[in-house]
Amino acid sequence: MSPYSSQPSTEDKILKTLLGAKGKPVSGHLLGKELGISRAAVWKRIEGLRKSGYKIESYPRKGYVLVAEPDTPTARAVGSCLSGDVLADGLFSPEKIHFFATLDSTNVYAGKIARQGALDGTVVVADSQSQGRGRLGRVWDSPSGVNLYFSLILRPHIEPRYAAQLTLLTGLAMAESIGSLGADDVEIKWPNDLLLGGKKVAGILTEMSVEENQVQFVVVGVGVNVNVETLNLSPEVSKIAATLSEHLKKKVKRYAFLADFLSRFQGWYRHYLDQGFASIRSIWLKRSRIKGRRVQVNLVESSFSGVAVDLDVDGFLLVKRDDTGKEAKVLAGDVLLLKKDC
Ligand code: BTN
Repeated sequence: MSPYSSQPSTEDKILKTLLGAKGKPVSGHLLGKELGISRAAVWKRIEGLRKSGYKIESYPRKGYVLVAEPDTPTARAVGSCLSGDVLADGLFSPEKIHFFATLDSTNVYAGKIARQGALDGTVVVADSQSQGRGRLGRVWDSPSGVNLYFSLILRPHIEPRYAAQLTLLTGLAMAESIGSLGADDVEIKWPNDLLLGGKKVAGILTEMSVEENQVQFVVVGVGVNVNVETLNLSPEVSKIAATLSEHLKKKVKRYAFLADFLSRFQGWYRHYLDQGFASIRSIWLKRSRIKGRRVQVNLVESSFSGVAVDLDVDGFLLVKRDDTGKEAKVLAGDVLLLKKDC
C-alpha cells in the first residue's frame, strides 16, 4: 500500500452511511454506535460536513438525512465515480487521490511526494491554489469552489525526450471529457492548451525528474476553468479565457468531470505504454485541427510564422516557415493560431 494512502475519515464513514440510507433518516445514536463515538461527537462531525457544503437536515427523534452534496472534488467524491474498469486497472484509485482545500500548487506538492516515493497514478487535487503555476513562469488563477486544479504523478519507463508526449495524451483525454459534456467544438492547441471558441478553457503543465537519462517521475498538472465566471478572473486572463459553464450554459459537477477525465486518461495511457505515441498521433491531430492552420511560434529569443503541416511521430509540431520555406520541428514554445489572412 502507498505510504500516502489515506484511511476513510470519520466524516467519510458518516457520509457513506447517510448515502446508503437513500434519503431515510439515520439516528445520531446509530451513527455513534457504528463509529464508536458519542452522539455529541457525531453532531460535531455533521456540523463540519455542513460547513464543507454538504446539506444535511436533522429531524428530531429520527436523525440525519443527506439532502445535497457539494461538487467539491474530494477523494471520496471522485473515487465514488470511478468505474469498475478503472478500479480494476488500478492506475487510479480512491486511496491514491489526495484532496486539499488549498495548496500553494498541486504540481509542487505532487513533486514533493513523488520524490518521497508516491505511486504511479497518485492524484493531487486542490480546491484552490495560492501559487498556481502556468507554463513559462506564468501564474494560473486558482479561485476556490469553482474550478479544477490537479496533478497526476506518473512513472512511465520512457526517455526524458518523450515526456512531452504525456502532455499531448492529457490534452486528448481532456478534449474527450470536455466534448462528452456537449462542447464538441473543443480544440487542442499544441502542446498544452484546450480551447473553446478560440479561448483557453484548460492548460497543462508537465514537469519531470530525470536520473541517468531515465524519467524517475512525471508530474502532469492540469487546470480547468469549470464554473468560474470569466469576469471573476484577473483582467488579463478574463479576456482570453473560456469556462465550461459559460460555454455550455450549465454548471458542471467538478468531481464527476475529474472522474471522467481520469477514466479516459487511464485508457490512453495504457494504449500509449503498450503501443507508443505513434498510435495516438492521428487521433490527436484530428482533435486538434491544427494541421493546415497558420501559426506564430514564439521561442525564448525569437519567433517565426508559418503553416502547421504535421505532428511528427514523437509529438513535435512541424511548421513550414514563411521566411525560409523550410519545415521546422518545434520542440517547445508558445504557438499562436493566426487568422487565415494574416
Ligand atoms: C498553462 O497553460 O500555462 C499550464 C497551466 C497549468 C495549471 C495547473 S493547475 C494544477 C497544476 N498546479 C499548478 O501549479 N499548475 C497546474
